[in-house]
Amino acid sequence: MKSPRFTLALLLLSLVALVIPRFTRGQAPAVNAKRQPPNFDATIQSNSNRMLEEGRKTFRYATFGSEAFWGDALQLHKAIAGEKNGGVGGGVSPKTALSVGLKVDADALPAPLKEQLKAGKVDLDDPATTLALLKLNAVVGVTGLFDKKGSIRSMGIQCAFCHSTVDDSFAPGIGKRLDGWAARDLNVGAIVALSPNLQPFSDLLGVDVATVKKVLNSWGPGRFDAEPEEEVSIVGCLCTPLDRLADDVMAPRAEPGDLVAVFQAGAYGLSASPHTFLAQHRAVEKVVGLPAGN
Ligand code: HEC
Repeated sequence: MKSPRFTLALLLLSLVALVIPRFTRGQAPAVNAKRQPPNFDATIQSNSNRMLEEGRKTFRYATFGSEAFWGDALQLHKAIAGEKNGGVGGGVSPKTALSVGLKVDADALPAPLKEQLKAGKVDLDDPATTLALLKLNAVVGVTGLFDKKGSIRSMGIQCAFCHSTVDDSFAPGIGKRLDGWAARDLNVGAIVALSPNLQPFSDLLGVDVATVKKVLNSWGPGRFDAEPEEEVSIVGCLCTPLDRLADDVMAPRAEPGDLVAVFQAGAYGLSASPHTFLAQHRAVEKVVGLPAGN
């Protein structure tokens, strides 16, 4: 049993406990009134807008010093310019550039030039036109560096070179940028093979320049390295990530539209599968026979 004095003390303490917060709460509005509640949503929104804007700029225009390789080492800018414009060889015309999958940012073209292009008045066979487009920063993913006299002295590439395309809204290969889209037409091998100096590759790989050139030209559009095989996991279209038909296996490079044959499907065969699982379409089963004697 607690003593009455102890109970009284407890009661007083509780009263004090009740009164103190009231007292301070009573004073608080004077302090709080001055402090506006921060508008976090607007702050977050403006931060994310700013960062998106900065990231887009970096993605589209930063060369990350790549001119040391593409320009200084490979001298690719000289092949683009051609002999007539202070480079080497025939130069790269806009037609050639478009044919190896390079894209033109229509938004970077001044209106009069667009009119001339529409009217067919721009010479798309002249490398000087390619240089003019580079000066306008209109070639997606490629930056030409020019000296004071306007001659190209080096070039670098951006993330957008391999990770962008355009919507072809102006003409094939010319349109609005589509950041982050796969550059399926880009023939990196053919572009690099234009370089007048493939020695850096030759030194790195320990094969002669002729071989480097041959391999580069064999890549084809949408290929970014020379490996004939790639490491893949083969999965279905359902949201069951453990259902893998193959995991981290080496397979010949696949292109969109290729078929993958699985010779031992095990329990993934049609007769063992739950046919209406997740409302999937019924699979088509085809029996492939081997020629007699096999
Ligand atoms: C010369 C072409 C090229 C350039 C330039 C390039 N990339 Fe890539 N990037 C690729 C290729 C090819 C792959 C796929 C590699 C693979 O799957 O083996 C890739 C993959 C990626 C991935 C996916 C990585 C993953 O593991 O899934 C990201 C993210 C990426 N790149 C971002 C960037 C950024 C950011 C830049 C600019 C700083 C950039 N890339 C520049 C060709 C390029």
